[in-house]
Amino acid sequence: MNFKKTILITGGAGYIGSHTIIELLKTTEFRIISIDNFSNSSIKTYDRIEKISGKKITNYTIDICDKINLEKLFEAEKNIVGIIHFAAFKSVPESVSNPFKYYHNNISSLLNILECCLKFNIPNFIFSSSCSVYGNISNLPVKEDTILGKAESPYAYTKQVGEEIIKDYTIAFPKLKTILLRYFNPVGAHSSGLIGELPIHKANNLVPIITQTAIGKIQQMTVFGSDYPTRDGTCIRDYIHVTDIANAHIKALMVLINGSNKSNYSIFNLGTGNGISVLEAIGAFEKISGQKLNYFIGDKRPGDVIAIYSDTEKSRVELGWEPQYNLEDMMETAWKWELEQLNFDKD
Ligand code: NAD
Ligand code: WQD
Repeated sequence: MNFKKTILITGGAGYIGSHTIIELLKTTEFRIISIDNFSNSSIKTYDRIEKISGKKITNYTIDICDKINLEKLFEAEKNIVGIIHFAAFKSVPESVSNPFKYYHNNISSLLNILECCLKFNIPNFIFSSSCSVYGNISNLPVKEDTILGKAESPYAYTKQVGEEIIKDYTIAFPKLKTILLRYFNPVGAHSSGLIGELPIHKANNLVPIITQTAIGKIQQMTVFGSDYPTRDGTCIRDYIHVTDIANAHIKALMVLINGSNKSNYSIFNLGTGNGISVLEAIGAFEKISGQKLNYFIGDKRPGDVIAIYSDTEKSRVELGWEPQYNLEDMMETAWKWELEQLNFDKD
């Protein structure tokens, strides 16, 4: 048995989980274990984490919806002091075409893991939420206490419901301390270029589509609409580097573990607070890569909000967190990661 204080990461082989593990290994003394069933990731990610950090991760290949096997993990691992729950499905269009998949996976896994927190006395819990909980909102920048709009997809609804479930648990069980982090648009990759967002499914998000177009996996990309009421007619988003997101989890974890949380249920936005348009994002990519991107202006994408960006005051003041990476860093690391994937077969 290992007696070191342990942090359990769910979805540790995934995009944000893997970057968070690297930062945890770099800046804390905790033992890190992960649960991942590789439904949207590869086991090879752990080799790459080891290459970057020099440390090996124990992974439990369990579906978190399988409560019997999940409880076996908690029976074996007696020193878990905190959980960061990343594991979920995250594709907005897939959630529209297959809502059962999303309601089942995202909600059952959350309920199971919360029940384990109670049964095995694990007090500290961090949840991956999303700016998609705000829905289509016109009052910008959005603050954590902004009244949420209607969820625009089953995926977004799983995050709204997930937040409410956690709130109800903290009311019923005051020993449970939780932080919910609402990520805006996480992009980029680790500075080594060795890990990033794995392209297991067709890319839907802007930055992977930009890098895949530049490398030739996609012939030509579409800018979805250019007559929005914004400074250049394209939609505005709050892109945030994945390593900044990872570091916010460490701040949140320490706030919970040190007991400096103001409430047992706290929500924080994770964004830079800067709104960036689609054409500005493309321009930043062209500048750092030295390539002209093959794109055309097409129709609007149904369901897109015109503009959204975060108010960052609460996370700055209460978590002591501030993003360190700018838009160029985001594009540069995303591009490095795209180029690294040419080496994949050599792994
Ligand atoms: P990801 O798909 O890369 O990682 C999720 C990981 O969880 C994957 O490795 C997957 O295999 C695993 N997983 C999923 N369901 C599981 C289950 N039932 N049992 C075991 N493992 C399971 O996604 P990500 O981008 O790293 O996102 C992490 C979290 O952040 C998710 O909850 C997502 O909804 C949320 N989020 C992501 C973004 C984004 O743009 N990436 C934005 C806002 C919120
Ligand atoms: C960004 C901008 C597109 C692709 C999604 C989820 C949200 C959260 C973050 C998880 C938009 C434009 C895109 C393309 C384009 N994820 N675009 N051409 O929609 O802001 O948010 O990721 O929680 O829930 O909905 O991100 O990267 O898809 O789009 O012009 O080929 O890029 O119209 O304006 P989005 P995105």
